[in-house]
Amino acid sequence: MRRRRRADPAAPSVTNKAGLMSLEKRAVYGELADQLAALIAGEPDLVANTANLAALIYHGLPELNWAGFYFAREGELVLGPFQGKPACVRIAWGKGVCGSAAALGQAIVVPDVDQFPGHIACDAASRSELVVPLVAGRRVVGVLDLDSPRAGRFDELDRAGIERLVAILLAHHPDWP
Ligand code: SME
Repeated sequence: MRRRRRADPAAPSVTNKAGLMSLEKRAVYGELADQLAALIAGEPDLVANTANLAALIYHGLPELNWAGFYFAREGELVLGPFQGKPACVRIAWGKGVCGSAAALGQAIVVPDVDQFPGHIACDAASRSELVVPLVAGRRVVGVLDLDSPRAGRFDELDRAGIERLVAILLAHHPDWP
C-alpha cells in the first residue's frame, strides 16, 4: 500500500491567498523596484516615467487586465498613462475605488469589486482591484490603479510592493505639479 506523505503541520506556510509564494512575491517587487529606479534615473519627464511604470507593472505582474494612473486635476481624477483597455476618463473625488483611495489618502484593496459600493466598472473583466494614492507632501496628486480578472488577486504584499514603487516614483519627482 502506498503511503501518502503528510504535510508537516509545524512547517511555516509561505503561500498567500493569491496562490503565489510570498517569498517569490517579495522578490518580484524587489526586482520591479530596481527596474523602476533604473528606468527613471536621469529622466525628469512625468509622463515618460509614469508610462514606463504602468508598463513595468502590467507586464511584470501576473493576472492583471489594467494598470495605470489617474491624476488629480481641479478636484477630480483624470486618466493618465496606463496599460489595458480604454478606461473612464474622469472620476469624481470620493467616487469609486480610485476616488475613495484619493479622498482617504490611503491604499484600498478590493477582493471582490461587486462587494464595493460605487465601484466603477471600466472593464467588465475586472474582479478585484488595488488602488494606491500618490501622496506628495500632504497633497494627494493622483492614484495608481491595478485591476485583475481574478477575485482576491491582491493581498497586503501587493499593497506594500506597489506602495514601494510609488514611493520611488514620488521621491524622483519632489516637485510634482
Ligand atoms: N474601477 C475603478 C475605475 C477605474 S478603472 O478600473 C480603470 C474605480 O472604481 O474607481
